[in-house]
Amino acid sequence: MTKHSLADYVAHNVSIYSLKGIAPYYAREPLHPAEIQIFIKHKAEFDSKTVLDIGVGTGRTSKYIAPYCKRYVGIELNKDMLDLFSEKLPQVELFHCDMRDFSSLNEDKFDFVLGPYSAFDSLNHTDRLKMFRDIHAMMQPGGMFVFSTHNSNWVGVGLPPQLERTKDPVRLLKNFFAHRKCIKNHARMKPLEERHETYAILNDISHEWLALLYYITREQQTRQLAEAGFKLLEVYDHNGIMLEAGMDNSHCAVLYYVCRWV
Ligand SMILES: C[S@@+](CC[C@H](N)C(=O)[O-])C[C@H]1O[C@@H](n2cnc3c(N)ncnc32)[C@H](O)[C@@H]1O
Repeated sequence: MTKHSLADYVAHNVSIYSLKGIAPYYAREPLHPAEIQIFIKHKAEFDSKTVLDIGVGTGRTSKYIAPYCKRYVGIELNKDMLDLFSEKLPQVELFHCDMRDFSSLNEDKFDFVLGPYSAFDSLNHTDRLKMFRDIHAMMQPGGMFVFSTHNSNWVGVGLPPQLERTKDPVRLLKNFFAHRKCIKNHARMKPLEERHETYAILNDISHEWLALLYYITREQQTRQLAEAGFKLLEVYDHNGIMLEAGMDNSHCAVLYYVCRWV
C-alpha cells in the first residue's frame, strides 16, 4: 500500500480478518437481535431446505441454522476464519472460495441464501452488482435472500474516531492508546474513501478503522436488488424492529434486508 493509494482495497479488507483477535472475535459473537427475529419468523424458508451462507466466517450463523437444513454450504475466503469454524458442525460443507466467483459450487441451487454481518461490504461496486446477479442465478425460484449492509443514511457516517470516556483511570488509559491507534489508521485510510451518487466506500469504526466498506441507502439497495431480480420484503434495524419504507433509519449503522427471488 502506498501513502494515498490502495490498488486492491478488497484484498486489504479480506486480509484484516487474519489480524490477531479478529477470527476469535467473530467466533464469540452471538446472533444479532435482528437475525434472531428474521430466523424465527422465516424458519420455514430454511427448514429442511438447501442453504448457502456467503462469507460464513467462523460459523456464527451456521450453528443456529445448519441443524435444521437438508444441506448447508458455507463459503469463505479467509483461512483464519475457516480454521476457527466450529468442529461441532460436521454437516456443514465448507468451500474455501471467493464470493466474486462461485464457479466451484457448480450447478447447485439454493432455497435460502445468507450474507450476514455485512459480509458483502468488503467488495467493490462492480463485484457487488455481479455477485447479486450470480446469487440470483444460483437460487431456486421463490427462494429467500437475507443479508445486512452498511447504511449511508446513518447519523454516524463521516464522524472521526471518538475517545471512549470513562471514570475508571486504568480503562481510560487503555482507551486512550486504542484511540491513538484508531486515529492513525483513520488518517491513513480516509484519503482512500470514495463517494458516489448511489453508494460510498467509507472508512469506519470496524476493525480499529482499518477497513474500507460499502455504504448504501435503503432506497438504492432496493433498486440494486430489483435489478438483480429480488423483491424487497422487509428491512430491520439492529434490534429487530421492522422499518417500513419511508421510516427514519438514521439510527442504523447497518440495515438487515429480507428479499424474495422473483
Ligand atoms: C464481517 S465477517 C462476517 C462473518 C460471518 N458471516 C458472521 O456473520 O460472523 C465477513 C466475512 O466475509 C469474508 N469475506 C470477505 N470478502 C470475501 C470474499 N470476497 N469471498 C469470500 N469471503 C469473503 C471475510 O473473510 C469474513 O469472514
